Amino acid sequence: MLSVFLKLQVKFRLQVISLTLPQVRDRFDTCVCVCVCVCVCSVMEGDHITTLSTPVMVVDVDIVKRNAEKMREHWTKLGVTLRPHMKTHKTLECGDIMTGGSRSCIVVSTLAEAGFYADHGYDDILYAYSVPFDKVERCAVLAERLSLFQVLLDHRDALEQLRKRPLTDRRVWHVWLKLDCDNGRAGVLHSEPEALRLAQAISESEGVELTGVYAHCGNTYGCRGAEQIHAVAHETTTLVLQFMEKLKAVGISCKSSIGSTPSCSQPISDMAKLSEVHPGNYVFFDVQQSVIGSCGLEDVAVRVLSRVIGHSPHRNQLLLDCGWSALSLDGAGKLPTGYAVIEGHPDLRLLSMTQEHGRVEPLSGQLDYSRYPLGTLLTIIPYHACATAMMHSVYYVHSGGRLVGKWTPTRGW
Ligand SMILES: Cc1ncc(COP(=O)(O)O)c(C=O)c1O
Repeated sequence: MLSVFLKLQVKFRLQVISLTLPQVRDRFDTCVCVCVCVCVCSVMEGDHITTLSTPVMVVDVDIVKRNAEKMREHWTKLGVTLRPHMKTHKTLECGDIMTGGSRSCIVVSTLAEAGFYADHGYDDILYAYSVPFDKVERCAVLAERLSLFQVLLDHRDALEQLRKRPLTDRRVWHVWLKLDCDNGRAGVLHSEPEALRLAQAISESEGVELTGVYAHCGNTYGCRGAEQIHAVAHETTTLVLQFMEKLKAVGISCKSSIGSTPSCSQPISDMAKLSEVHPGNYVFFDVQQSVIGSCGLEDVAVRVLSRVIGHSPHRNQLLLDCGWSALSLDGAGKLPTGYAVIEGHPDLRLLSMTQEHGRVEPLSGQLDYSRYPLGTLLTIIPYHACATAMMHSVYYVHSGGRLVGKWTPTRGW
């Protein structure tokens, strides 16, 4: 009994948090400081991940470091600057691993990320999202605060917005032109005469500098295997380099950047002619990347742990405590094993999910329920790590199955 009590004392940390509550001040006029005791149930470092309450996302830090190192090696060898994207994890710790501790030269997808990294000493941040008009002022504040904060645009109206908000201290807006090289999302189409005209307008604008040309080859996500990835990477690289030649012909020189995890994991030699690349997902990888051919399943650093919470023999199904709120719905209809891969159980399919429940069925035949008693822990490899990570407010980090820490991502826009 005593040993159980002592163990509980270790496991349940009592934290005393001092709070200043305006409501309390209003009510009592005097008392502004309240001490609240919160009993925080915490799993300790060194515990095995199987002791975690589920559903939970776990990250293998050794695989993260290996993925980051491999990507760095590729691009150091090719002499191209690697500007890693933070969008997949949005954490400080993983950013430090991706930047090799330099806290410099990153891409972000939201201004919340930009502010978060800036607050933690990062600099040279590229906000690679067509600059939203409601956020110009926040961008200006960052541009006036950091030594290098860069924005991206693909429309004259956005340029006009920047011109209307000149930066103080003789600073200039550092602008990347987003070029659509047949990815089919944001960007001015590479073949449109407007692409060159917009680049000229940026470089001729007072208080604005054309820093580079940015093309995201998200169309590599439709590829299967190295050959197809190489073909898209080659096409995007060629189109960007041709555009750089057009710029040169009108006397403009600036940087060039392309990237996606598939193209940057399987680089082609032509990419050595670029200034930068900007992949992000590679630090975690996922089932989708293994299907594309960017990695093997052994390179995937993230898992969602889940437990069996129900048997439904009348439907030949198991019920899990992992619904879409722990995994996301990304991956629907993409895999023979359903929304994800259940590690070590290739005979199972994650058939459907509601918010807090997952239904699992065998690929064929009858379920052997004796193999999955209630409480059985199942390890799920996500289809899309970026989407799954977004579902979690904390990631539990482990090395060889033993917990080494927690990473807390930033959220919002
Ligand atoms: C604009 C932009 N740049 C870079 C990336 C990183 O690509 P990946 O996630 O394939 O590594 C993304 C991903 O969505 C993106 O949208």
